[in-house]
Amino acid sequence: MKVAPAASLVGDIGVPSVKGICQRGVLLGAIADGESELRGFGHAADTDAAISAVRALGVDVREPKEGVVRVGGRGLHGLRMPSGPIDCENAGTLLRLLSGVLAGQDGRFELVGDASLSSRPVRVEEPLRRMGARVETNAGRPPVLIEGARLQAVRYELPAASAQVKSSVLLAGLFAADGPTTVVEPLATRDHTERLLPSLGVRISRRGSAISVWPVERLRPFSIDIPGDISSAAPFLVAATLTAGSELRVHGVNVNPTRTGFLDVLERMGARIAIFNRRAAGGEPVADLEVRSAPLVATDIAREEVPRLVDELPLFALAASMARGRSVVRGAEELRVKETDRIETVTTALRALGGRVVAREDGFDITGVPARLRGGRMDAAGDHRIAMLGAVAGLVSRDGVAVEGAEDVAISFPGFFELLDSVTTR
Ligand code: S3P
Repeated sequence: MKVAPAASLVGDIGVPSVKGICQRGVLLGAIADGESELRGFGHAADTDAAISAVRALGVDVREPKEGVVRVGGRGLHGLRMPSGPIDCENAGTLLRLLSGVLAGQDGRFELVGDASLSSRPVRVEEPLRRMGARVETNAGRPPVLIEGARLQAVRYELPAASAQVKSSVLLAGLFAADGPTTVVEPLATRDHTERLLPSLGVRISRRGSAISVWPVERLRPFSIDIPGDISSAAPFLVAATLTAGSELRVHGVNVNPTRTGFLDVLERMGARIAIFNRRAAGGEPVADLEVRSAPLVATDIAREEVPRLVDELPLFALAASMARGRSVVRGAEELRVKETDRIETVTTALRALGGRVVAREDGFDITGVPARLRGGRMDAAGDHRIAMLGAVAGLVSRDGVAVEGAEDVAISFPGFFELLDSVTTR
């Protein structure tokens, strides 16, 4: 896919709904007592993998109207043992959260993934074993074999800030026979699970960095509106900022404070992004965003800030490549265990396009050149966020960018290129 340079981005758009809430909604709907409704469901490879997974476990999932997904919950202990492995495809959130749910079921389950997921650390085996489940992995990587058990509550201190591991343990905590399960996080990570659980009748509390969940007898079916994903809005925010004369509005974006780190960072760099029309949907804050072109200046990102923009760091590296001054990212070693080693894939992609990026063990050093990037050819390396990075780089480049593996955007955002094209003037 060749992405030509853009003059500006103008218009009004919406983006696919929060991927992680879609996945959480499907998994929790599957063990609720009756039918739950997820409105504004964003179909993508990762969210469809969640639907296929619960179907394999005997759950009836219907879509009576486009974007309205109804999950026929089988009750807390009602999932059926499938005849073969459950394929989590590329989706780490699905693999880890489903492991937490299966740890409390009767039966044996095998979770597999694609080549990328099969090379990533599972990380949930230790806490789930401590709770009483039998969990086997291939030296810490998928496939994951789980034999459910009657679980016991634990207090688990996360060795690294991870919303996926936190959520896996909290979901297993719903099945713990003997009291509240507590997860302690080193840094606050996205709290979509914690926000969703009360609407299913679950008691959950936070004290400082410790989150506790109480076991339940049953889960109430629920009904939610899922807002737009800030991670899917982010490419548009960067493209509009870096092209002259842009004026773009992204409507209905989730502005959960555990997810808005990139907005704060862009603002610090001089971006002009207005957040307006704040409201709530499905227990989450939502707003419309308006972005206008602006010149950017360099900034540093330290460990404490990383969880709030972890999936936007590739785009940060692009923005910093076109900002005045030198930017430094540290404490971001989590990037090495994402869909690809994003410290390597981001550095390789941006250098191929003329960016001055140096990979560090836990981040990047980026020397900004406040002119258009040269452009050229880059490889998405099977990673949806790197494919979108390449597309935005094309728009803000001098010569355009050929994105190898552009179809990878479908992991989180099918229709990305069409939407981008619809607001681009050349
Ligand atoms: C996610 C958490 C993040 C993020 C991922 C989705 C989630 O991973 O990178 O894309 O839905 O919980 P961590 O487990 O590193 O927080």
